[in-house]
Amino acid sequence: FNLPSIKNEPMRNYEAKSQDRAKLQAAVDELRSQPTFQVPCIINGKEVRTGRKNKQLNPSDHAQAVCEYHEADASLVQEAIKGAIEAKKVWENMPWNDRAAIFLKAADLIAHKYRYQVMAATMLGQGKNTWQAEIDAAAEAIDFLRFGVRDLNTLYGLQPSEHAPTQWNRMEMRPLEGFVLAVSPFNFTAIALQLSSTPAMIGNVVIWKPSPLAIYSNYLIYKILEEAGVPAGVIQFVPGPAEEIVGSCISHREFAGLHFTGSTHVFRSLWKQIGNNLDKYRGYPRIVGETGGKNFHLIHKSANVDAAVIQSIRAAFEYQGQKCSALSRLYVPQSMWKGEFKDKLVKSINEITQGPVEQFQHFMGPVIARHSYDKIMGLIDAAKKEGGEIIVGGTGDDSKGYYIKPTVIETKDPKSVTMVNEIFGPVITVYAYPDDEYEKTCELIDSTTEYALTGSIFSNDRVALITASNLLRNASGMMYFNDKCTGAVVGQQPFGGARASGTNDKAGSMSIFYRFASARTIKESF
Ligand code: ALA
Repeated sequence: FNLPSIKNEPMRNYEAKSQDRAKLQAAVDELRSQPTFQVPCIINGKEVRTGRKNKQLNPSDHAQAVCEYHEADASLVQEAIKGAIEAKKVWENMPWNDRAAIFLKAADLIAHKYRYQVMAATMLGQGKNTWQAEIDAAAEAIDFLRFGVRDLNTLYGLQPSEHAPTQWNRMEMRPLEGFVLAVSPFNFTAIALQLSSTPAMIGNVVIWKPSPLAIYSNYLIYKILEEAGVPAGVIQFVPGPAEEIVGSCISHREFAGLHFTGSTHVFRSLWKQIGNNLDKYRGYPRIVGETGGKNFHLIHKSANVDAAVIQSIRAAFEYQGQKCSALSRLYVPQSMWKGEFKDKLVKSINEITQGPVEQFQHFMGPVIARHSYDKIMGLIDAAKKEGGEIIVGGTGDDSKGYYIKPTVIETKDPKSVTMVNEIFGPVITVYAYPDDEYEKTCELIDSTTEYALTGSIFSNDRVALITASNLLRNASGMMYFNDKCTGAVVGQQPFGGARASGTNDKAGSMSIFYRFASARTIKESF
């Protein structure tokens, strides 16, 4: 059917004294005033307060709680699965235009009613500044819903073109038989929404385990989906200890699919467990995962230095480098590095401001939690011990929030510790390559890590762009020419990586729906 016009949600700027700023400020103040708000589990539409409680802390100020939340256990998960399978009987038979209306309404609820609340929750709970919260919890979340409906509508329309006389052939895009488990990360509220809602759009039921570090924003997303009309039981909101919740799901006979974003290590372990459980299931579960990255910018000698410097800073330090797509490895020709690149990079980084996100003025905030802070600082120390030179940053302060200075390490060893390991923090490692080794550097980039998520090439020479792009064909699922390696926009750059970075099923495109559909072909003779 014909849909209303679908366009990317326009960004707002929240400048001081604007109405948007005042409303966002009010939402932040309101959230700060309710540190003991109790987030329940939600099973079959009912709030369940298990009494097994935990707190979500504000990473900008870890003495402050954002909310308290109740954790599920394995027996509650079993109840959730039972309820979801029951809810599926109605949900999978609901006409597509009614399901579509629900998700389009959810997009409008975020855009026009709850925008400031989900942004405030993402700011205080996940440490995003206003702009990053707008990109994520407002624009991208809305786009995932609207473009998801558009893409699924297109998919439903893709039908066999040939029909012999007295016959009609068609494809029915059924949901999977059983339930889908969605395991979402802390770093994008929109990804949590996408992981839980995309399988549901096509008629699946979903057990959703949100990240403990993003509970409040994810709870709001659940409530918005509920208000938009997602029926009770279709998406079950089940926070709790990962091993218990996930283990209980993937050992269940009705387990039919995993929709995961998180670490490579956890994803690989789940895949193996699912393999070991195969005889328990009805069918072959669909496994969709987006995991780690070790993303690169390759600068060619023909590049515009100012553009490459600014885009590298944005790619590495926006949201403190906590995007799976964030820049981590920077390759610059030696003469350019010693010429103006290094000085311009250091000068711009020294102008970066960092502090609590609720002050509305900082380019950078904190990293998410104690374990991230310790891991990132540990990797910086390891790089120093290996002989890496700290060009700028390298220090942190965890006394109030988890703040780590934007850090640049120069290494002479292109396979040094911070060139190889994922950091998930505000650290770039630079390797200045011999000017005449551009192609050799491409081979080096390709062979340094197992990851293949995002990468950029900066060059004003078309041949150099194409040469590197071909040599790096399998080194990333996302390739950018003369732009930063972060910030894929739904409907514009379908997102996903290969190799150890994931199953490359491209969030924000039609292909994700195939993974959560089990088509039935119907031939009818007249
Ligand atoms: N989709 C996010 C980006 O491209 C992770 O940065």
